[in-house]
Amino acid sequence: MPAAGSGADGSGAGDGAPRGQLSSRVADTLLASRESWTRRMFELAAQLRAAQPLPVYDLSLGNPSLEPPPVWRNAVLELLSHEPEGMHRYMTNAGFAEVREFLAAREGKRYGVAFELADVTMTVGAAGGLNVLAQAMLDPGDEVVVPAPYFSEYEHYCATVGARLVPAATGPAFSLDAEAIAAAIGPRTRWVLLDSPNNPTGAVYDHGELDALAAVLRRANDGRARPIVVVEDAPYRDLVYDGGEVPSMLTRYADTVFVTSHSKDLGLAGERIGYLALSPTMFGRDTLQRALAYCTRILGFVNAPALMQRVLPRVLADPGGRVDVAVYARNCRRMAAELRHLGFVLPEPRAGFFLFPQLPERLRDEHGGDVAVTERLVAERTIVVPGTAFGTPGYLRLSMAVDEATVDGAIAAFERALG
Ligand SMILES: Cc1ncc(COP(=O)(O)O)c(C=O)c1O
Repeated sequence: MPAAGSGADGSGAGDGAPRGQLSSRVADTLLASRESWTRRMFELAAQLRAAQPLPVYDLSLGNPSLEPPPVWRNAVLELLSHEPEGMHRYMTNAGFAEVREFLAAREGKRYGVAFELADVTMTVGAAGGLNVLAQAMLDPGDEVVVPAPYFSEYEHYCATVGARLVPAATGPAFSLDAEAIAAAIGPRTRWVLLDSPNNPTGAVYDHGELDALAAVLRRANDGRARPIVVVEDAPYRDLVYDGGEVPSMLTRYADTVFVTSHSKDLGLAGERIGYLALSPTMFGRDTLQRALAYCTRILGFVNAPALMQRVLPRVLADPGGRVDVAVYARNCRRMAAELRHLGFVLPEPRAGFFLFPQLPERLRDEHGGDVAVTERLVAERTIVVPGTAFGTPGYLRLSMAVDEATVDGAIAAFERALG
């Protein structure tokens, strides 16, 4: 199995390799990256497939396995067959006004927040939104506090603007620990970055946890020239099982920026459509709105994809405008039951499509044991990401955005490798 940082990604670069034509910023972050674990595991799956015509049970990448709902396809066809001139040209950088207005009203109703059109900026997925926001708000040396473990791309988004990610410990079952966040806050803290339902852990922060965080932040803001901003990254919020609830900081903290996308809940990861919404009570709201439109332009996107913007109001207004989350729920619950049977420890899955089980005692070693277990699973043609990739040795991350045959195969492989 290729080691992280070995340059096995075909880039010709690895730890200690000459940086060639790269900027020092990219060389420092790209070549020493932990994030490469996920990519490498995904590529290992491709190599296994190419080497032998046998199934590979690839649980590495969080790539939605469900197709977009039929209402999306119909809406695209409908839009293309009856459209006025000029629908594919440049537009206002922040996006089509009628789409932003629709989203402002929809989110406003959902959270009881009086968003206006200008608070919404259309983005190239959630990743585009986070990068635009980072560009607009963060200076070199600024700090972003994030509950750990976290989506590893955050490190790269921060590095792009010279900001630093500061991990904060989480509580039982990866719940939000407001006091740990308080302890991680320093004079350079600009954001607290939340992701609920969480990748990789699947945790959903509840009302009490968010209330406690809001209280901590209000305390921390005392005497600051500008308040700390909560950035709520929520691409999994509509993948909650059994109609469960995902509370938001929008309703309890004035300086919140909400970021989401339809990569997961509509299965449109490749179409790159998302948006961000500024809390109307936000300090510096007007200048930030302008800066977001500007940053959308200068980062190379210019605007979010036009057709995908236009299709959103039609799809989101339709009750069928969502993938069937019951499929992900079934996969996660089946796999969770198997993992528990083998002695792994994990909470009951509630949302999204990731599992983040802790290894049973018998499989742990002085390095956590996750890399060794990952290797045993590779031998059974089953690909997971070791918790080490997320700075959490002793855990595995499994993406259950896969078809049923892959779940069956992976369960059998876990039995053979670890049973
Ligand atoms: C927590 C989190 N944030 C952001 C993203 C990026 O989403 P998008 O594909 O919409 O850019 C992902 C994708 O996996 C994610 O898991």
